[in-house]
Amino acid sequence: MNKYHLIWNESRHSVGIALIDSQHREIIKRVNQIADGVAKRNQSEAVQEMLGGLILFAREHFAVEERLMVEYGFPDMESHIEEHRRLFQQLNNLINVGLRAPNHNKAALVSAFLTDWAEQHILRADKELGEFLAAKGLS
Ligand SMILES: [Fe+2]
Ligand SMILES: [Fe+2]
Repeated sequence: MNKYHLIWNESRHSVGIALIDSQHREIIKRVNQIADGVAKRNQSEAVQEMLGGLILFAREHFAVEERLMVEYGFPDMESHIEEHRRLFQQLNNLINVGLRAPNHNKAALVSAFLTDWAEQHILRADKELGEFLAAKGLS
């Protein structure tokens, strides 16, 4: 296994909303695949393609969360959406800057991004959103 892999842990990562959790699982799976790709040589085209796919998926995922925030009047909407913008920017930077770096640096960049997203955003902002939605009766 790639040393940069992040393992989904239900009790740790679940935010309690099925659709959001399944999309987070998919995101972690895709980022792990990208970490594998960058760890190998001569994978840049495949990695570009996977990053392009992740960008589309992330855009869709952020839109799902943001629609729920609007629909249920989530009070921390503004700062959460700002974090999505920042993460989306980082994702685009991986394509623009990261893939020009040497292989070991690329893996570190992908790893840093994954950690930032999964450990910071999901565990904090998305969990807060999940708790709010669960209190509104969503599951
Ligand atoms: Fe989020
Ligand atoms: Fe999320």
